[in-house]
Amino acid sequence: MLQIKDVRVSFGGLIAVKDMNMNVKKGTIHSLIGPNGAGKTTLFNAITRVIQPDKGDVIFKSESLINLTPEKIIYKGISRTFQNLQLFQGMNVYDNIYSGFVHNYKGNLFEIFSKKKRDFDIQTKNKILEVTELLQIKNRLNSYPSQLPYGVLKRVEIARAMVSDPELLLFDEPAAGLNHNETSEIRDIIKMLKSNGKTILLVEHDMNLVMKVSDEITVMSFGEKIAEGVPEEIANNEEVIKVYLGESENA
Ligand SMILES: Nc1ncnc2c1ncn2[C@@H]1O[C@H](COP(=O)(O)OP(=O)(O)OP(=O)(O)O)[C@@H](O)[C@H]1O
Ligand SMILES: [Mg+2]
Repeated sequence: MLQIKDVRVSFGGLIAVKDMNMNVKKGTIHSLIGPNGAGKTTLFNAITRVIQPDKGDVIFKSESLINLTPEKIIYKGISRTFQNLQLFQGMNVYDNIYSGFVHNYKGNLFEIFSKKKRDFDIQTKNKILEVTELLQIKNRLNSYPSQLPYGVLKRVEIARAMVSDPELLLFDEPAAGLNHNETSEIRDIIKMLKSNGKTILLVEHDMNLVMKVSDEITVMSFGEKIAEGVPEEIANNEEVIKVYLGESENA
């Protein structure tokens, strides 16, 4: 479904992603793991065109995304969450989630009071109610981010990513900063999304979560792929173990 082909991203002299190749299959949970600074978020940014890769291609359902804007990528069926929550503090939960949908309105400014726009708003409202029901945050729609626990805010971000009805979801550390219970809620959500037919590319440091939910795992270190396989293969891969041990020794 998603193919990453020879993607390279550099920042000045630093090559953050070096000729990365990866293939995410439809209907799977594919995890992308690796130590801090490995280039995982940078790869997400390249897929969603937040940054322009130096070279390479990103193909989604046989179509190149490389010349599209971030909004166009949402229309194509890809949404994401961010490593650092990017919610608007001055907006309630409903409006924050709505902001993930607004790109879907393809009409123009003159239609703002028209029937087309009203129909769009009704559809949007229904979608927001559906998604927040699924994520069990429907009772929080009028709250502001500052009034909510972190675990709920993470789910609000997932809800915002889901309102555009994406086929592929990119989650950047959805369990970071969460306690044990909140992490199991996230695990259940990820599994539920898969059973609803979504494809998920997951960046996550919580190995317990990664090993439990993933169909396939790709490991990056210093911008390069060092291993790929099913969870058991990755858990027993010597190079992967070395990279993670090195990280804990440095810490
Ligand atoms: N906008 C930027 N400008 C300069 N360097 C950057 C920028 N973004 C990332 N980098 C560098 O690129 C490398 C890869 O960073 P990236 O954030 O992709 O890593 P990561 O795998 O997501 O790490 P983490 O697990 O800590 O989130 C790092 O060395 C980082 O310092
Ligand atoms: Mg990151």
